Amino acid sequence: MRTAVLVSGRGSNLKALLDASRGGNLPIEIVAVGSDRLGAAALDLSKEVGIPTRAFPIMNYPHRQAQEEDLLTWMRENRVELLLLAGYMKVLGPQFIRQADFPVLNIHPSLLPAFPGLHAQRQALEYGVKVSGCTVHLVDEGLDSGPILLQEAVAVLPEDTEESLARRILEAEHRLYPEAVGLVVSGRVKRVGRRVQILQQEGSE
Ligand code: GAR
Repeated sequence: MRTAVLVSGRGSNLKALLDASRGGNLPIEIVAVGSDRLGAAALDLSKEVGIPTRAFPIMNYPHRQAQEEDLLTWMRENRVELLLLAGYMKVLGPQFIRQADFPVLNIHPSLLPAFPGLHAQRQALEYGVKVSGCTVHLVDEGLDSGPILLQEAVAVLPEDTEESLARRILEAEHRLYPEAVGLVVSGRVKRVGRRVQILQQEGSE
């Protein structure tokens, strides 16, 4: 499945997806990596392995919608069938979501609907939860609000800092994202309203 990935920073989730697809564990082909930031390390990682990259810095556009129109055109040119947000720190606007004729997935470092938005790990620590984790969800027009595909819990330890918690959640993310993408690609995901059912085999209940 022809897949685009949008990133803003480091790209460790992108690397986990690349490793899974190149290792034959995930039947996707990452054909394009885009970013809202020129200097995103994830773009260098993509270039190193020969994947076409492009930056779409918001400041080059009169408004966000123009940037998203460019993103969508680029995805159509690349015949994208699946879009994965992997640390993409901008919210995609409703126009983009409505016009995208492919599934859009996101990974978020909390057990949604708790702690959406920025600094999810800091929010979890400040709130004092004993368990946090990560969520892969379908992207809708809200902020981290789409139907949930998979979640993995991570214990919050008394001695945790934002960094140590983020590190352990990231380890879970690197397992969970390829697994969730694999379910979508194999057609084992059925959406009933907000609820996402995972089918045993393609098409069966
Ligand atoms: C990851 O923890 C991801 O869940 C988070 O940004 C980090 C990106 O790391 N995404 C969000 O917070 C989106 N709301 P990475 O660049 O190493 O994959």
